[in-house]
Amino acid sequence: MSTLVVFESYWGNTETVARAVADGIGGPVEVVGVADAPTPLPHDVDLLVVGGPTHAFGMTRATTRRDAVKQGGRPGHEETGIREWLAELAPVPGLDVATFDTRASSVRRLPGSAARGAARSVSHGHVGRVVGTESFYVEDTPGPLLDGEVERARAWGGTLRA
Ligand SMILES: Cc1cc2nc3c(=O)[nH]c(=O)nc-3n(C[C@H](O)[C@H](O)[C@H](O)COP(=O)(O)O)c2cc1C
Repeated sequence: MSTLVVFESYWGNTETVARAVADGIGGPVEVVGVADAPTPLPHDVDLLVVGGPTHAFGMTRATTRRDAVKQGGRPGHEETGIREWLAELAPVPGLDVATFDTRASSVRRLPGSAARGAARSVSHGHVGRVVGTESFYVEDTPGPLLDGEVERARAWGGTLRA
């Protein structure tokens, strides 16, 4: 059985977290950008981890993705973010799913998290059982990640198969 980690990222912060989470999980694990993420899921995947940046209090939308690219984020995910990819997934019996996001620490107290939105989407679509939801913090829109967040991501990954 194996793990698939799917990320969406404009400045690379969520990708860095995704790779640290994958390190923490260990075993057979593949990390892919959402533009290349498969639907349906490969049959051997029993743990899916999905992460994206919080945009406008939730998962990205076409408008916020275009804003990110205009602000200097890397292009490539304008068509499909994790919101659209998750919506295409059919229920998978026995699948565990964990979701995470990156968010700006300057607005840490504002409500809204892409990780929670993604978890709701997984539950509503009966895609799998949500086993974890976490936020990781960047200093500002382009990053960088706050000190200690990569280590925290690795440790969180380590809990997901426990
Ligand atoms: C259009 C846009 C909207 C954003 N909205 C929020 C928000 O509502 N809350 C928040 O904490 N951060 C917000 N951010 C900051 C992003 O969360 C930050 O850019 C992201 O974590 C960086 O990750 P990445 O490098 O993987 O794209 C926003 C960024 C952009 C570009």
